[in-house]
This record gives sequence, structure tokens and C-alpha cells, in this order.
Amino acid sequence: MGHIQITPSILNADFGNLAAEVARIPGADWVHVDVMDNHFVPNLTFGPTMVEALARSTDTPLDAHLMIDDADRNALSYVDAGCGSVTFHVEACKAPVRLAREIRKAGARASMALKPATPIEPYEDLLPELDMLLVMTVEPGFGGQKFLDLCLPKIRRARALMDKHGVETWLQVDGGVSLETIERCAEAGADVFVAGSAVYSADDPDAMIAALRDKAAS
Ligand code: DX5
Ligand code: ZN
Repeated sequence: MGHIQITPSILNADFGNLAAEVARIPGADWVHVDVMDNHFVPNLTFGPTMVEALARSTDTPLDAHLMIDDADRNALSYVDAGCGSVTFHVEACKAPVRLAREIRKAGARASMALKPATPIEPYEDLLPELDMLLVMTVEPGFGGQKFLDLCLPKIRRARALMDKHGVETWLQVDGGVSLETIERCAEAGADVFVAGSAVYSADDPDAMIAALRDKAAS
């Protein structure tokens, strides 16, 4: 397993002051940007122009989580926008191997996400094509939802498959990650942790990042 990384989501930050909100979390390993199109999920956020502006405003690399239809056609815009990692949903992608290769070739880390009801087993052979696998621990679309414990066995199975294939793929979890749930995720084998409301509802978001990191490592 790689080392623990905390990737706060700005979904619950103040969208009117995003650069300032990102400046409040210097301890973040990545800034997780949730791109939603109101089709793949019933919520709408921002697109590549906004992401590019955000990338220019910070030295912390951006981790784009694309909750959008037709990922095959749209994902590369987020590499061009300056994201260091781009995650597409397998449920919204026609050719995941081709897309992962295109993302890597364009210079970003390629990552694939699974909704809670999507199994990992059919995609086992794709793991060597991926720099990261995202196992969602809520239905994508909104921050502040309750962590779904039913996703823990999948995290465990994904970690076992990564070990079997001997790959360096990171294993990210996203949704309901907090001081209360992060240990369960780490114990199951996750090493990259998205936290949205836990970080941005804290009085000191950067101290919360440090606290989450400590819990995950314990
Ligand atoms: C939800 C998003 C998450 C969200 C997490 O669809 O993908 O990144 O911001 O928020 P919390 O941590 O509040 O569940
Ligand atoms: Zn996300």
C-alpha cells in the first residue's frame, strides 16, 4: 500500500471564494474537484474553464472527479485544464482502456471510479492501466451524505486484486469520509481519502486534514 494521502473536496467550500478556500488547506496532498453535469448525477458544478482558473490559483495538484456522461469525449479537457489526476466513472465510459491510455499519454494520472453498486471484478484486468481506482462510498452527486458501510468489502476486494496483480494503483475512497469512518476505510485497504464536509465544516480545515491523516495511519 502507498502512503496515506488526503484529498479534500471543495464541493462544500464557498464557491464564491474558491481560491481563498483552497488557500485554507495547505496540508492537502491534492485538491479534489467534483465535476457534475446534471445528467450523470442530479447536480451541476463547473467545467474545464473554472477548473483551469483554479489550477492557476494554487500549487497543490488538482484531482478531478468527473461525474459526467460521455467521459470518453470530455475527460481530456481536464488534463488540458491542468489537472494532475483525472477520474472518470466506468458507468459513463464506453472504452475505459482507451480513455485511461489517452489520459496518461496527455500527462495526467488516469483513474477510474465505481459507484456503490458497480463491482470491481469485471474490471480486474484493467488495474495495470490505472494509476488510481476510486471506490465511491456514497451515491455520487452531493456532499454531506452518510458513509455506506456496504462498500467496505469492495475496498477489501479491490486491494486484494491490486496485490494479486502487483500493481502500484492507488485506492481512493470518496463519500462520508470523516474522523469516524476513515479508519474503517484504511483498514480495508484504501490509501487516498477524499473528505468534503468533514474538512470544510471544521473550524480549522487544515488541522482536520492532519487529524484525518493521523487516524488513517493509526
Ligand atoms: C460526492 C462527491 C464527493 C463529495 C464528498 O458525489 O464525489 O467528492 O464532495 O463529500 P463528503 O465528504 O461530504 O461526503
Ligand atoms: Zn468526488
